[in-house]
Amino acid sequence: MFETALILLYLTTVVKTKEEGVYFKVRENHFLVDEKTVWDQKVDSLLSCSQICGRRYDCKYVNFKKDQGICSISDRQSSGKVVQRKGYFYLKKVGYLSKWLITSIDYQAIPSAGTTRQVAVSSCQILRSQSPIPTSGIYWINPKGESQANAFKSYCDMETDGGGWTLVWSYTFTNYSRFTSKSNAITPRPSWSVKSNVDVPISTTPPLNETDFNAVNFSEWKQLGSRVLIKSNINNWLVCEPGTGSFVNWKDGSMSCQIVKRVTDTCNMTLAPSKFASSKGYGPMFYSTGYWNSTYYYFDGFTRNNWPTHDPCGKNRAKHLKNVGDPHGNIYIR
Ligand SMILES: *[C@@H]1O[C@H](CO)[C@@H](O)[C@H](O)[C@H]1NC(C)=O
Ligand SMILES: *[C@@H]1O[C@H](CO)[C@@H](O)[C@H](O)[C@H]1NC(C)=O
Ligand SMILES: *[C@@H]1O[C@H](CO)[C@@H](O)[C@H](O)[C@H]1NC(C)=O
Ligand SMILES: *[C@@H]1O[C@H](CO)[C@@H](O)[C@H](O)[C@H]1NC(C)=O
Ligand SMILES: *[C@@H]1O[C@H](CO)[C@@H](O)[C@H](O)[C@H]1NC(C)=O
Repeated sequence: MFETALILLYLTTVVKTKEEGVYFKVRENHFLVDEKTVWDQKVDSLLSCSQICGRRYDCKYVNFKKDQGICSISDRQSSGKVVQRKGYFYLKKVGYLSKWLITSIDYQAIPSAGTTRQVAVSSCQILRSQSPIPTSGIYWINPKGESQANAFKSYCDMETDGGGWTLVWSYTFTNYSRFTSKSNAITPRPSWSVKSNVDVPISTTPPLNETDFNAVNFSEWKQLGSRVLIKSNINNWLVCEPGTGSFVNWKDGSMSCQIVKRVTDTCNMTLAPSKFASSKGYGPMFYSTGYWNSTYYYFDGFTRNNWPTHDPCGKNRAKHLKNVGDPHGNIYIR
């Protein structure tokens, strides 16, 4: 549990009687994130900081940065969130109270966003606004909202291209070593709508890491954002923004894609694809001119025809990285 304490200041110079004082609720290693104006003052201790606030009738709360002795005071009622942050104290003025009322105040530390079902965030993107930005890992998210029962654990990538990405699909291949055989496909597949003969299993279990081969219910992807990050350890990584086409809305058309990481040197002059097709074959594809001659990624989910193109040359050929031990790919949304 977090340390909580109560400071009582007797402000004999300011207040009329010795029985009155200023009470603060104190949280060590906590910080109030608030966009509203605060002003900073350098002080020698937490006590001095609380005294400054105590003497000002208009001071509502204080953030104190211990190592630098910075006392940040605000006169507004806080609207922000209290988050964990090492080396800080958050003091909230409880009021000008009489001594005997202390015991009636309840101190409960507030967990930081995304760390429990109760404080689930709507997507990993929301966590990016926290300071400091949390590390990549598993967080509770609730894209649908409505009820806490809808929250689930999800993996967030907080590093690639600025972070804030929610992992929605981790896949592998049914026959990687015979990549271009008809039996090769991605597996499992998300619950998107494709031809009925697509036969790899459907997953609606959120993946907890990049090799936990599962998928978030496809109908929830659009609640997480509209940008797509495609990662694979056998082809270059892409970030695509919707144009006339949109992956999450399952709409064919243009997309504005960029290569954010090169996994292979092969065809390192080739540009990212520029178009999206949801179901020309047995799954969605990213391509640039013709469906079957310029494919960069094709998520083929049928084990009796086609193969799942991962071509850094963007020509629908088998130019992916070979002999990779744990070949896989991931899709993230932001
Ligand atoms: C992989 O492809 C080869 C060649 O087509 C085939 O003989 C083999 O059965 C396939 N393996 C699987 C697991 O589908
Ligand atoms: C990925 O998640 C699965 C399922 O929770 C777990 O079994 C596996 O150990 C995890 N792998 C890594 C590398 O974290
Ligand atoms: C996926 O989400 C949709 C819409 O929220 C819902 O109707 C459907 O039952 C879900 N599928 C599964 C398998 O949870
Ligand atoms: C492409 O790869 C070649 C050979 O590996 C390398 O010499 C060249 O600098 C690379 N070009 C770019 C634009 O990265
Ligand atoms: C693919 O085919 C189309 C015609 O269907 C053609 O316009 C385009 O230039 C071809 N692209 C490549 C990369 O060969």
